[in-house]
Formats: sequence, structure tokens, C-alpha cells
Amino acid sequence: MKKILVAVTGASAMIFLHSFLEMLEAENLCVHGICSESGEKVLGLEHHCGVAELPGVEKWFSCRDFAAAPASGSAGYDAMVVIPCSMGTLAAIASGMTANLIHRAADVMLKERKTLILVTRETPLNRTHLKNMLAAHDAGALICPPHPGYYLKPANMKEAAMTFAWRLGDQLGLDIQGRKRWGSND
Ligand SMILES: Cc1cc2nc3c(=O)[nH]c(=O)nc-3n(C[C@H](O)[C@H](O)[C@H](O)COP(=O)(O)O)c2cc1C
Repeated sequence: MKKILVAVTGASAMIFLHSFLEMLEAENLCVHGICSESGEKVLGLEHHCGVAELPGVEKWFSCRDFAAAPASGSAGYDAMVVIPCSMGTLAAIASGMTANLIHRAADVMLKERKTLILVTRETPLNRTHLKNMLAAHDAGALICPPHPGYYLKPANMKEAAMTFAWRLGDQLGLDIQGRKRWGSND
């Protein structure tokens, strides 16, 4: 069974987080979560819920708990997805600063050469954002902004968010039931 760590930070685009977790819930996975303080705030403001109401996460760790499992490579997560990833968290990961458990867990994934996906969200992007994305990319992270597959013709925002979740599923090596692909007839 794959072990996936999901980190939520205080960027917009929480609908993408929700669809991604719904997709993971339908798979045979062990999913753990960490949410930053700003993440909890934006989740409430934008998505009108708290982390406990999000689907598919078996266990949430406090982002202040540096003794929690994700702080160590021995915890054995196969992949970590920061969704959405704020520019602040991107900067911390790009520079190796570990001020909370999300930064530390991402640092661990990079040192262990494990999959780290950053769903970076901001617009427009300034030079620092762009430099931090390149630094994180060069350190081994995958920069994956939340762009839906418009070519799959989603009918609404929820469907659009799911087309993006499928792309993340591809990166995690998941074979998602019902996933639409360009060029397939179904
Ligand atoms: C409603 C709302 C939306 C926000 N959207 C973004 C965003 O899209 N990208 C971003 O980098 N920061 C955004 N922020 C600012 C971050 O929440 C803020 O920089 C915070 O310190 C990030 O901390 P964290 O990375 O520890 O979660 C938003 C804040 C609020 C209140």
C-alpha cells in the first residue's frame, strides 16, 4: 500500500485539494495530512470547512509538531504533495528553511530522493517566485501549478479540478478508475 503525505498551505485553490483527496479516498492508500495555520484559515474562508471535514485523510499532524512521523525519513512516505502550495512555503522549501513540519517533511522527501509535488498557486508571479520554483525543481521537486485539462471539456469547476487531480495521480503512479485521457474514446 502506498503511503502519501498531503500538506495544505495558505494559498487559494482549495477546490483542487478537495478533488485530489476525493480521488485518493477511492484508492487503496494510506494518506496522512499536515495543514499550516494559514492553510486552516484559507480553507475556512474559501472552502467553508476545517481539515477534519476533508475526505480520505487517515491522520492529521500539527504543523508545529517536529516530533511527528513526517519529520523523519524513516517514516517511509512514498510521496508528498503540497496542495495548494503558497509562495511562502515554496520559499522555505527552496531555501531549506524548516520553520514548520511541512517544510521539514518536504526537506526530508528531497534528501530521501522521494517524490515531492508542489501545487504552487499565485498570480502573477514575481522574480523571486520564479527563482524559488527553479531552485525547488533543481532540488528534485515537481512544480505542478493547478491547471485543469481544458481539452477534456469539464462541465464545471468540480470536474475541472478532477482533471487536475488525475494529472497528480499520474505523477504518483496511480491507475485511476474512470480517468479521462486525451485521445481515448471513452
Ligand atoms: C484568502 C487568502 C488567499 C491567499 N491566497 C494565496 C495564494 O494563492 N498564494 C500565496 O502564495 N499566498 C496566498 N495567501 C497568503 C498566504 O496565506 C500567506 O502568505 C501565509 O503566510 C502562507 O503561509 P503558509 O505557507 O505557512 O501556509 C492567501 C491568503 C488568504 C487569506
